[in-house]
Amino acid sequence: MLGCRWLLALLALLTVGFPNPGGAEEGLRFPSHDGAPRVLSVTASNYRAALRGSPVVALLLHRPGGTRREREERVLELAAQVLEDKGVGFGFVDAEKDAATAQKLGMTEENSIYIFKGDEVIEYDGELSADTLVEFLLDVLEDPVEFIEGDHELRAFENIEEDPKVIGYFKGVESEYFKAFSAAAAEFHPYIPFFATFDPKVARKLTLKLNEIDFYEPFMEEPLTLPTPPQGKEEIAAFVEEHKRATLRKLKPESMYETWEDDIDGIHIVAFAEEDDPDGFEFLETLKEVARDNTDNPELSIIWIDPEDFPLLIPFWEKTFGIDLSRPQIGVVNVTDADSVWLPMADEDDLPDAAELEEWIEDVLEGEISTEDDDDDNDDDADDDD
Ligand SMILES: *[C@@H]1O[C@H](CO)[C@@H](O)[C@H](O)[C@H]1NC(C)=O
Repeated sequence: MLGCRWLLALLALLTVGFPNPGGAEEGLRFPSHDGAPRVLSVTASNYRAALRGSPVVALLLHRPGGTRREREERVLELAAQVLEDKGVGFGFVDAEKDAATAQKLGMTEENSIYIFKGDEVIEYDGELSADTLVEFLLDVLEDPVEFIEGDHELRAFENIEEDPKVIGYFKGVESEYFKAFSAAAAEFHPYIPFFATFDPKVARKLTLKLNEIDFYEPFMEEPLTLPTPPQGKEEIAAFVEEHKRATLRKLKPESMYETWEDDIDGIHIVAFAEEDDPDGFEFLETLKEVARDNTDNPELSIIWIDPEDFPLLIPFWEKTFGIDLSRPQIGVVNVTDADSVWLPMADEDDLPDAAELEEWIEDVLEGEISTEDDDDDNDDDADDDD
């Protein structure tokens, strides 16, 4: 499973067996909506049945009318079709007509999708596209804890760099400590992957003692160990909650809104770097080095954006921030008005080294570099529609 989520998503698309509209190659057929309605309109009278109808149910809270709604319906219908055999049900709740139902279900934010799985409610705070939503729901369907056994799986675990990860060493599935760990995992699933091992050899390589739990921030080589094991569910959850805002975090389509809303005193330090590009790669390595050196600073959290993950947003960002995204950039963005300042670089050969970058970041944190410095008035209106 490790690192293969995209593959799963692709397999799901391939195995559904919808009619082939364009005569595409056998074995590589992208779905289009077949026209059958699958998304329920969820109201006070049918919400109980809707939630009982499938093991996982995804409900979107929407405001009626407008083109936005049509687009949302198309995305949900396609996702519902693709995931039909996987046991995922879909529905809309009308924020006006069925406000009471929404409230009963704990759905507060319009245009958000709430995913119900057993007793858990997961809020989806990602991009509303069928690909990203399907990928996310396939993750939701998996168990919250993955098991690591043997060298290959250990290597796959170690190769996870962009996501935070939690791992514990336990006696077995019957262990009380494992059960507490598993219950904590369910609270963060699927945003933060949890792993467990029962294999003493794996534990030794990770320097884990029995019932010990380690938390790895993204891009960090050294874990934080939970104090004094063994821990109960609440302690584990509190520790993960406390450390989950990473020093360096990647903006991902499936959690982009959640990440963006988690600003630090109204600003974000944002770095654009394309990992597949030599300059972008080099800049990213410098950024990781600086993040590792400053991981103890709770004031620092840099958002890394790989523009390739968001092709549709590139022109928007270039215009809003007045930068050229064909090369690496780092800047400060005010989340209220999208006003920004960027580290000056003459060209792509003028990348800062770790010391220069660290100095610039320090200036930002001390308020010496601020988006308010140059306030002339030709900013573009950053949030023209929704
Ligand atoms: C961000 O912009 C708003 C509106 O222009 C301003 O009031 C606020 O002080 C700015 N915040 C920071 C941290 O510069």
